[in-house]
Amino acid sequence: MVNVAILGFGTVGSGVAEVLTTNGGLIDRRVDDLVRLKYIVDVRDFPDSPYKDLFVKDFAVIENDPELDIVVETIGGAKVALDFTIRALKAGKSVVTSNKELVATHGCELLRLARDNGCSYLFEASVGGGIPILRPLGSCLAANQLEQITGILNGTTNYILTRMIRAGLTFDQALAEAQANGYAEKDPTADVDGHDACRKICILASLAFGRHVHPDQVPTQGVRGVTLADADYAASADYKIKLLGRCLRRPEGKVCAFVAPHLVSGDNPLSGVEDVFNAIAVTGNAIGDVMFYGRGAGKLPTASAVVADVIDIAKDLKKDRHNGWEEGAPDLVVSADSLVSPWYVRAQISADQARQRFGEVQLLARGGAPAGETAFLTAPMTEPEIRGKLAGLEADSLFRVLA
Ligand code: HSE
Repeated sequence: MVNVAILGFGTVGSGVAEVLTTNGGLIDRRVDDLVRLKYIVDVRDFPDSPYKDLFVKDFAVIENDPELDIVVETIGGAKVALDFTIRALKAGKSVVTSNKELVATHGCELLRLARDNGCSYLFEASVGGGIPILRPLGSCLAANQLEQITGILNGTTNYILTRMIRAGLTFDQALAEAQANGYAEKDPTADVDGHDACRKICILASLAFGRHVHPDQVPTQGVRGVTLADADYAASADYKIKLLGRCLRRPEGKVCAFVAPHLVSGDNPLSGVEDVFNAIAVTGNAIGDVMFYGRGAGKLPTASAVVADVIDIAKDLKKDRHNGWEEGAPDLVVSADSLVSPWYVRAQISADQARQRFGEVQLLARGGAPAGETAFLTAPMTEPEIRGKLAGLEADSLFRVLA
């Protein structure tokens, strides 16, 4: 018998209970043992829950139960969740989580703690919701030197951008829908301002390049600056605006990583990724380009990835999974200043002035554009170059085009 506890009975935690129960028979067959949900830890009361007999409020019950094998941490945040994770690992219990904030900020030390205590720390659900991405990176693509990863990593903002464009919803209406569907973080500013995508690209970069990339090191811009006017201009040239998390291998073991809205050409499969879906494009030196696609948020898709980790551990509780990475360093992450790409500019400027400043440009059009507003795509250049050409001119929007 393999005994499991869930910490935090919110959207993901309740989804994990549901998947463990609904698919219990097949999970037992796949593990070749009985996998049982023994406790749910939550400070709240759930008197009407079908699991009401499993609830406990005191984490010490889990910590001190010698028969408890796996802890599923779906509390979120990096405070209580960190304390409970450390205590669980020190007690020799493997921990599975969907908590990207905790993995992105403390992953390196928690992975080491797991190894030191003969147990595992797995977090497939922390990136891409239900999409298998972390395990494929570490196993199926293990033969490659990974060169870069580009992802639509936040379901809430992708949902918002899609609904604004397709249904003409306001930003707030689209956000309310995403929250009602259980996609958003407790505090949706983490989605909207790009912090959630930042944490996910940190986890991907740490795994891909082998050293801990910390969220504080990654320049992050969210979607608040994206307007329907920008979306219309972009659409006129068959581009979509997407919030991308990107990381690139750089010489001498350095990493470039950042999060920002980009224009993505209709020729690129990332442009067709809509609603809550996420996609992660990976480039390796043997495989070339490969893309992972699926539901990036939501109760059951996320629970699917969490329970897959539970199954992996339950099959062999003491296996050393070698899924760690090394410490980072203050100079590990380098700026994106040398990256060359076209740029999208919207500014109060005439087409002639745009040509004078930026050289040959591709002018964009939209119905109802106010007089004096011009939007265009530039030739490929670096960020310092485009900022130099903008000198003295405040662009209303400035987004990189995914090259
Ligand atoms: N708030 C996150 C998102 C949940 O919208 O992608 C999944 O990590």
